[in-house]
Amino acid sequence: MAEQAELLKVATAMLDKAYTPYSHFHVGAAAVGASGKVYGGCNIENASYGATNCAERTAIFSGIAAGEKHFTALLVTGNTEGPIAPCGICRQVIAEFFDSDAPVYLTNQSGAFTETTVEGILPGAFTDLT
Ligand code: THU
Repeated sequence: MAEQAELLKVATAMLDKAYTPYSHFHVGAAAVGASGKVYGGCNIENASYGATNCAERTAIFSGIAAGEKHFTALLVTGNTEGPIAPCGICRQVIAEFFDSDAPVYLTNQSGAFTETTVEGILPGAFTDLT
């Protein structure tokens, strides 16, 4: 639970950093690297909407840029009515860098908290080219 509370704190702090001139919808994420370090991420939008980077990918890519190769837990939050749901692209990126049974915490800013796994958010993920 300590880890979950810490991740929610980091992800919530990221909400203020979101760059969202188009949707005005702020998302925050926190990813735990294999080293134990926690990486925050926010969504970063673009006038060419498809170039937008979601909070989950920002957190993961920040960790990769800092030298992580793998992650052990992820938390996402936003001002949604229920627990926020990661987009399909993020689910595929999450599957790339986490074990299939790694915990994924989907939360909101009003106390919703759902624990699932990487396999739970992307069953049968494509991860192997062989
Ligand atoms: N978004 C995220 O950052 N993560 C999610 O889990 C869902 C969607 C962002 C992308 C875009 O900036 C805004 O939310 C609206 O789709």
